[in-house]
Amino acid sequence: MEILIVDGGGRLHGDVRVDGAKNASLPIMAASILISGDACINRVPDLVDVQTMSLLLQSLGADVSRSEGTLQIDTRRVTGHHADYELVRRMRASVCVLGPLLARFGRASVSLPGGCNIGHRPIDLHLKGLTALGADLRIERGYVVAESTQLRGADVFLGGPSGSTVTGTCNVMTAACLAKGRTVIRAAACEPEVADLGRFLNAAGACISGLGSSTIEITGVEELASVTHTVVPDRIEAATFAIAAAATRGSISIHDVLPSQMTSVLDALRAIGVDIQVAPDRVDIATSGDLTGVELAALPFPGIPTDTQAQFMALLTTVPGVSVVTDRVFPDRFIHASELVRMGARIRREGASVVIDGGGQLTGTSVMASDLRASAALVVAALAADGESQIRRIYHLDRGYAHLEQKLTRLGAKVIRR
Ligand code: UD1
Repeated sequence: MEILIVDGGGRLHGDVRVDGAKNASLPIMAASILISGDACINRVPDLVDVQTMSLLLQSLGADVSRSEGTLQIDTRRVTGHHADYELVRRMRASVCVLGPLLARFGRASVSLPGGCNIGHRPIDLHLKGLTALGADLRIERGYVVAESTQLRGADVFLGGPSGSTVTGTCNVMTAACLAKGRTVIRAAACEPEVADLGRFLNAAGACISGLGSSTIEITGVEELASVTHTVVPDRIEAATFAIAAAATRGSISIHDVLPSQMTSVLDALRAIGVDIQVAPDRVDIATSGDLTGVELAALPFPGIPTDTQAQFMALLTTVPGVSVVTDRVFPDRFIHASELVRMGARIRREGASVVIDGGGQLTGTSVMASDLRASAALVVAALAADGESQIRRIYHLDRGYAHLEQKLTRLGAKVIRR
């Protein structure tokens, strides 16, 4: 199994470009099932999760080809409606095919995603939303089996105990595109990736308004046609580079980003003492002065993304003072804390929060990645640490960061894969 070896302690400097967003690409690829024609999707990142979604679409009968960053998906010959456990267990976002399959075939059988290292992840809100559209749903031998002769527009509330659901909103919004009549999704997820999926569907002929807000309205249409779309920048990848730069007290420019989609992250970095300049598609990060501990909470958009919580925790272990990190989206998403402790961090769990006594020097050692963003946090910590770190189970990283070691090497980091 490959490991990442990081010789830490150097400052990151230079320029980096971010890829298209993983969390927009995956539901957009799934939604291409609805299109009676070709979907040409630009700026799709070169990630294992994208390969998994391609395999899933191919298993249903789609033609999927990739040239550079562009995916061409032709779902005209799709006949399957069964998403097998073998593929779904590799990637939870596979559940995004549920709404599109149901809307196109009136039938879907999709494996339940099962356990996850970042905490309890039910899909009850997805099922509630699709039921409201008239689907008949049951769980059979670990699969969600959905049937409907005709989906009908409805008023759907997608709020749950931790806010809305991102992929649940994607599933219901996509299915509603071909439902009869008007659907209103209340407590919809406002994440930019959901809005990007909506723009893709609208470009294919759907009729969706309210994108980016918590009330999304969809008027059903007969069919969706061929479409070309360019995926939004990956704000989580951009945030990871920004946080890594701060953790190494470096100065970098992050290109091809939309700073307006990262306001909460940039705000938190400013509160820590990081200097930030923004241009329309660029963020400049510099760390000239002293940094100080902060209290921060991961929240649904436009709050600090839970997908950056682990990286922030790694940064805050290097920052003098006490910091408190809370995750209100996945309250148990703290497995990385124990690995950071192995690198010398002083962290303790207090209820739904983690308290960090920051500012000590991290030291390199062997650590184990437990999930995608936890791996990114370990990379951030290893870059800031004294000496060599070996990060194991980096297949998690490859699910969500394209060419990470090449990008970091260009920023002056000493990183190799072995
Ligand atoms: C998506 C992202 C993931 C991110 C997460 C939160 C993709 C492919 N993945 O995951 O990277 O960390 O949003 O921003 O876009 N919940 C329920 N019932 C449900 C669904 C969710 O209670 O039916 C709860 C979850 O347990 C969690 C919260 O709602 O506490 C948010 O989960 P959700 O937005 O659904 O996460 P995903 O869409 O799986």
